[in-house]
Amino acid sequence: FVRTPPSTHANPETPTAAAPDRPQQSLKKGVKDFKFGEILGEGSYSTVVTATDIVTHREYAIKIVDKRHVIKENKVKYVNIEKDALHRLSHHPGIIRLYFTFQDEYRLYFVLSLASNGELSDYIRKFTEPCAQFYAAQLLDVIDYIHENNIIHRDLKPENILLDENMRIKVIDFGSAKLNVVDTPIKADSEDGASKPDARKSFVGTAEYVSPEVLLDKYVCRASDIWAFGCILYQMFVGRPPFRAANEYQVFQNILHLRYEIPDDVPPSAAELIREILLLDPKERLTINEIREHPFFEGVTFGKPLWEVTPPRLK
Ligand code: ADE
Repeated sequence: FVRTPPSTHANPETPTAAAPDRPQQSLKKGVKDFKFGEILGEGSYSTVVTATDIVTHREYAIKIVDKRHVIKENKVKYVNIEKDALHRLSHHPGIIRLYFTFQDEYRLYFVLSLASNGELSDYIRKFTEPCAQFYAAQLLDVIDYIHENNIIHRDLKPENILLDENMRIKVIDFGSAKLNVVDTPIKADSEDGASKPDARKSFVGTAEYVSPEVLLDKYVCRASDIWAFGCILYQMFVGRPPFRAANEYQVFQNILHLRYEIPDDVPPSAAELIREILLLDPKERLTINEIREHPFFEGVTFGKPLWEVTPPRLK
């Protein structure tokens, strides 16, 4: 479905005979190197499709971004942020890998690893306690890696967590990320790399998972991702996120007043962990290290082993 534009301009990526110190055949990939397949997902200015490398037969997911739309909607900055973030983070097993980028006259192409089992949101209602423990541990490991690289994701939610062929998670969608977060290691009275309050800043993220400090437009910090982690952990046990309502305004009100309930059938250690994360003051939320040490994760080995074991079976 991707047409090569009927361009009369020379494509800057096409190797030319007049480039003596370049190999005859450019190593740079382009549209012609892939056979495009089914649509995996559609965003407001991008479409993700499956694609097969014509030579190697390797399968990928290609995110195709419409240049005109991105420019018209003032989203150029976010496309660049996504590319920069993926370049920096792509080598963790829990993050979607960016293999190549290229463009034609109308579109940008991000060639990504294919997460063939789709979104976590399609499985989260069937989670057993071992599943919740395993997938929460993987997610925490990824968030730790993102934060260590001075990046805040800002839009963590089950729709942005995909499952690969081995049912391990792959975090996607870094278009809302904040890069180059400055480090302020002292927890008690610092903003932990927070951005300065800015009244003009618009809401970034998804209503149900957005933290109170982002809503109040004060600042975003690493703990804002931890808030989203808490919401997702809740959802693994309850089947829906903690703050839900008929409309976005009501959702925000519930978040700002910390109006949520944990049903009685949630295991006590999970309930306690959720309560110690979903706190209005970001400085009071457990840190990643404290979460790892929480009794809910008893028996879990974090780090490399998490990405080598066979995930628990879903119900
Ligand atoms: N949807 C968006 N990105 C994807 C990917 N890399 N694999 C599968 N589905 C996706």
